[in-house]
Amino acid sequence: MKIPFVTFIPLEKELDQEIRAAFERVYTRSWYIEGEEDKAFEKAFAEFCGVKYAVGTGNGLDALMLALKALGIGPGDEVIVPSNTFIATVLAVTYVGAVPVLVEPDIKTFNIDPSLIEEKITPATKAIMPVHLYGQACDMDPIMEIAKKHGLYVVEDCAQAHGATYKGRKVGTFGDVAGFSFYPGKNLGALGDAGAVITNSEETAGLVRAYGNYGSDYKYHHVYKGNNSRLDELQAAFLSAKLPVLDKVNEDRRRIASIYLEGIKNEKIVLPFVREDCVPVWHIFAVRCKERDLLEKHLGDLGIGTNKHYPTPIHLQECYKDLGLKEGDLRIAEEISATELSLPLYYGMTDEQIQYVIDSVNSF
Ligand SMILES: Cc1ncc(COP(=O)(O)O)c(C=O)c1O
Repeated sequence: MKIPFVTFIPLEKELDQEIRAAFERVYTRSWYIEGEEDKAFEKAFAEFCGVKYAVGTGNGLDALMLALKALGIGPGDEVIVPSNTFIATVLAVTYVGAVPVLVEPDIKTFNIDPSLIEEKITPATKAIMPVHLYGQACDMDPIMEIAKKHGLYVVEDCAQAHGATYKGRKVGTFGDVAGFSFYPGKNLGALGDAGAVITNSEETAGLVRAYGNYGSDYKYHHVYKGNNSRLDELQAAFLSAKLPVLDKVNEDRRRIASIYLEGIKNEKIVLPFVREDCVPVWHIFAVRCKERDLLEKHLGDLGIGTNKHYPTPIHLQECYKDLGLKEGDLRIAEEISATELSLPLYYGMTDEQIQYVIDSVNSF
């Protein structure tokens, strides 16, 4: 049996008419940037998240960068980020001219360890960026407490966690502002690059919109030296077609994850840990294995696609040599990079496909 790491086909088949209708709507209207679709999606997405404002952006990296910029974070500032994340979180900090300060995750949840944050706070620290990695929320209570105590902003990276909850509350609603990615492979994915910022602050939403629109408040009037990063009409229309089924998609991902959690029984494999106070959305089903590369080959030989999130930790990436960190400095991030393997998990996976993955992992 051949099982890809990810496929969009089951969902695309189900939404075929809606997606084509979305294209027709935009094409017939012949209006592609800053229009009705953008407005309608922003309103619907803000409602879904439970916040006042959503502002569409060109992608998730820009969403985070614009969020930081809107908070006035820039040169001379430090921002606390997890050492185990996709590089975009950290690049957003670099792009506004601030310095990323890496904090190790809890190896069980893969998310930033709140007990290690305070020792990294300096007079230059301006914000904490928790990343709800692989679809499970960070432990937000202690993070918010630390932020409050030290007067820091909290910028949530929700790129992998659309709809995930912590203590019954959706991610993106804890901090001052949050960034989402709608990269095609995300739980809510566009048919290209797209992103959004959400916040309850009118001022922050307005600044994000202006910074992402050449720094203008109205056409050809430029208050800031901004960027061009807007959600285009086509992507907004596709996202509006997909948003109504996001809860169903997440539910299906939980179905698959729970069958994996029940069925995978192999002492060489460490299964992902689910916190009692979290409802994850399983963007990624991350297992750990000392012989990860052999497991990857074993599954590959059986026709199963896998992935590594992420094979090289941020501090050992060439572009971040300037952080002055070397191998051994962030051992948990390094351990995750060396042992993590992501199993296939996508909407519409059949029981037979799930069982085949389980049997294949168990036979390793
Ligand atoms: C944790 C995290 N942050 C940020 C991003 C950036 O999003 P995008 O690819 O839309 O720029 C991604 C996704 O790629 C991500 O996984």
